[in-house]
Amino acid sequence: MRRVVFNQKGGVGKSTITCNLAAIAAASGQRTLLIDLDPQGNSSRYLLGASADVEHAEAPGAAGFFETTLKFSLRAPPTSDFIVATPWANLHLMPGGPALDELHSKLEEFASHTDSLEEIHENKEQIEISRAYERMPNASLLATQEFLEDKIYHRKNEDDLFS
Ligand SMILES: Nc1ncnc2c1ncn2[C@@H]1O[C@H](COP(=O)(O)OP(=O)(O)O)[C@@H](O)[C@H]1O
Ligand SMILES: [Mg+2]
Repeated sequence: MRRVVFNQKGGVGKSTITCNLAAIAAASGQRTLLIDLDPQGNSSRYLLGASADVEHAEAPGAAGFFETTLKFSLRAPPTSDFIVATPWANLHLMPGGPALDELHSKLEEFASHTDSLEEIHENKEQIEISRAYERMPNASLLATQEFLEDKIYHRKNEDDLFS
């Protein structure tokens, strides 16, 4: 099941609906994980109550999870380290909260804003070339068609080149 709940306005019930959809899935017996990627952490608060404040939560949540992907580590902690149980059966949560804001600035370091005009041009050229290839019909279909139409022929290189 795939559902998208979106609205550009704040405070219209997106998080409430999402938490309820998760709760319905969990109540129907599906193991359900809600991942809260919002620095506001409202979904986490809806499911955990006041204890959702990430500093006090037992797991560092979504921010901690992404932080480990930025760090080099031979043994990354298991994803389950960043997930907590909720009071409801089958419903688990990777909490969000203000730490996700800090993560944003850390991720900024990895963004590249310094492509030279030359690099941009090169990328554009490669995208155009691959688009042109994508528009071409499948080569094996073309070959099969030509074979059926008796258009396949053998070329004798020696004759072509040296005659
Ligand atoms: N159907 C509803 N009727 C009345 N209040 C609602 C309803 N759905 C959500 N709310 C309340 O509106 C507020 C904002 O909801 P929330 O789901 O956090 O919004 P969003 O995620 O879109 O910012 C919360 O206090 C929530 O309890
Ligand atoms: Mg919300």
